[in-house]
Amino acid sequence: MQDPRPAPSLLTIDDFERAARARLSRMAYDYYRSGADEGRTLRENRRAFRRLEIHYRVLVDVAERDMSTTLLGTTVPFPILVAPTAYQRLAHPDGELASSRATSELGTIFTLSTLSTTSLEAVAEASPGPKWFQLYVHKDRGLTRSLVERAEAAGYRALMLTVDTPLLGRRIADVRNGFALPEGLVMANLLDATAGVPVAERGSLLAAYVASRHDASLTWRDVEWLGSLTRLPILLKGIIRPDDAVRALSCGAAGVIVSNHGARQLDGSPATIEVLPAVADAVAGRCLVLMDGGVRWGTDVLKALALGARAVLVGRPVLWGLAALGVEGVARVLAALRDELSIAMALAGCPTLASIDRDLVRRARPARPT
Ligand code: GLV
Repeated sequence: MQDPRPAPSLLTIDDFERAARARLSRMAYDYYRSGADEGRTLRENRRAFRRLEIHYRVLVDVAERDMSTTLLGTTVPFPILVAPTAYQRLAHPDGELASSRATSELGTIFTLSTLSTTSLEAVAEASPGPKWFQLYVHKDRGLTRSLVERAEAAGYRALMLTVDTPLLGRRIADVRNGFALPEGLVMANLLDATAGVPVAERGSLLAAYVASRHDASLTWRDVEWLGSLTRLPILLKGIIRPDDAVRALSCGAAGVIVSNHGARQLDGSPATIEVLPAVADAVAGRCLVLMDGGVRWGTDVLKALALGARAVLVGRPVLWGLAALGVEGVARVLAALRDELSIAMALAGCPTLASIDRDLVRRARPARPT
């Protein structure tokens, strides 16, 4: 007899990416998928995960698994957060409203980008769950201060300062496509700042915005300045070096995100999973360490936790879910990663996050030539 249940066609993150690609305009898909320059770091972010093996333990009672953790005072049911990504209404008309609502439903933390196409207040109103705000420091410090004040007033629980973007990395496809927001979409948090941005005749409009408005002179001193503006904890996103992580700590950061901006900034920078252990060792538990970059499977999450992250963030997977199925797609993507992590923990002999230790993960030996 035929099985009446439909075959599940969207199971993995790569399935969602294929479905998203079929729905998105070429310009939108290229914007989301691209890394900088030749895409070396983009490939490495995923390949580096594949080089790691999980040396699982057997005969551990894993009948109950606890995936919950507490991050800056917020308890989440599983250690997978939503990374900030720009312009989500390019992916789906409901954009950030849909992705934040789905994230709330799943109970984890949503990070809203400064470059969102829905205002930070509208997102806060639409979704009750915990939220952090990603900040780009603009040359106009009044504007920067007002973003911080608005985020704080709207109930965002932390600021995530991106520190890897004095200029935008060159995403070749965006330059070729003349990437720009289509009619009707705006940078909803920055309406006053977008007037008068020099419009390059060709090339990426976002690159032109960043070059003219972001503060490329930002330094460690400004991290302290930011701290003086707010009572919110500050996380620095885009750290890949142990010495920078220690410096972040001494400037009062509550945490660091080991990130290379989804490989969209400096091509040739290392895969984040490769540098995570050294950063985690350098801060030695004195601040929160999170990572993003190349996470596509629950086993990737397990590897990142083993190598020193307290939680991971996912960016593109959320965009693929959003483009494929709106709010339901984002919820399904997050649930898929959560459920894969749960299986991975069971099979690796880890009933709790604390039991995921570094000894579990080892670099695969290079295959011998046959
Ligand atoms: C924005 O932050 C981007 O990387 O495109």
